[in-house]
Amino acid sequence: MAPRAIITGAAGLIGQYLVKTAPRWAPGWYVQGLSRAELELTETSKVTAHIHALKPDLLIHCAALSRTKACEQDPAQARRDNVDVTAHLAQLSQNIPFIFLSSGEVFDGKTGGYGESDEPNPINVYGQTKLEAERVVLQNPQHTVVRIVLTSGTAQNGDRSFVEDMCRTAKAGKDVTLYADEFRCPLPASVIARACWELADRRQPGLYHLGGSERLSRWEIGEALLPWYPELKGRLVKGSARNHIGSPRPADLSLRCDKIQRLLSFHIPGFREWLTGGSSRGSDLWDYPDDRA
Ligand SMILES: NC(=O)c1ccc[n+]([C@@H]2O[C@H](COP(=O)([O-])OP(=O)(O)OC[C@H]3O[C@@H](n4cnc5c(N)ncnc54)[C@H](OP(=O)(O)O)[C@@H]3O)[C@@H](O)[C@H]2O)c1
Repeated sequence: MAPRAIITGAAGLIGQYLVKTAPRWAPGWYVQGLSRAELELTETSKVTAHIHALKPDLLIHCAALSRTKACEQDPAQARRDNVDVTAHLAQLSQNIPFIFLSSGEVFDGKTGGYGESDEPNPINVYGQTKLEAERVVLQNPQHTVVRIVLTSGTAQNGDRSFVEDMCRTAKAGKDVTLYADEFRCPLPASVIARACWELADRRQPGLYHLGGSERLSRWEIGEALLPWYPELKGRLVKGSARNHIGSPRPADLSLRCDKIQRLLSFHIPGFREWLTGGSSRGSDLWDYPDDRA
């Protein structure tokens, strides 16, 4: 019988990709996605019973309160969803590999180019809860934390990725302000899913950074998307993080990813390289043409 992998947050952006890419990248696994509709993860005793019944051989934990603003508005909920749920699932997975999706938001963004050994210093509630959860997860030497940054992709309801957010705003007739002095290293959810499946197979637990190989400002990201998303035309406005109002945002969350790159069978692309097909067009990375970004 094939070993069983459980994906939490299966109705979310990355969870959806982990489930839909499994036949391609994880053919040896029997993969079962868990959405909130199937299991509310804060209901501790139900979760314990459910996981014991399923007897997974691997758990990839994607469920989270992932919107920075929502965490800032309700820190108690952020703690329940991001820290308590993660700690409970990690404990239930104490004898199996556990992969936890964390975030570059654990850094303050003052320098960018962060490696795994750099000291985190979160500046918002979301980053604080992700860091706290990471520390619990990494107490188990069998467990893995993967820090990712800005993720593109197409969700079933079209309401998850930053690209979907931008297009929705533009279609509503509103401008999309993009900071020219805020830097990220975006990566498509399809690439993240493939990397996670490979990581599961490598059995080399620990802390990994996984971002696109190109550092881009938000403005540059918007410009790169324009040819593919005509609805954005005339709607992008260049702005500066100096004028930002709202929850604190780290300025530069570019990541150094050489540690995970050494384990992967494929080159982690830069975002513009991925959008245009780059040198690897036709390779396995571009198997999801509908998911351009
Ligand atoms: N996408 C990014 O740019 C990005 C960047 C850095 C890190 N990450 C991390 O990567 C992981 C996956 O992100 P994502 O973009 O796929 O997030 P997402 O689209 O927001 O999906 C998260 C899923 O978790 C579910 N969930 C939250 N709390 C739950 C609970 N108590 N019980 C059951 N389900 C619950 C949500 O359900 P509902 O829809 O019902 O709320 C949602 O379906 C997260 O840990 C996130 O923090 C993402």
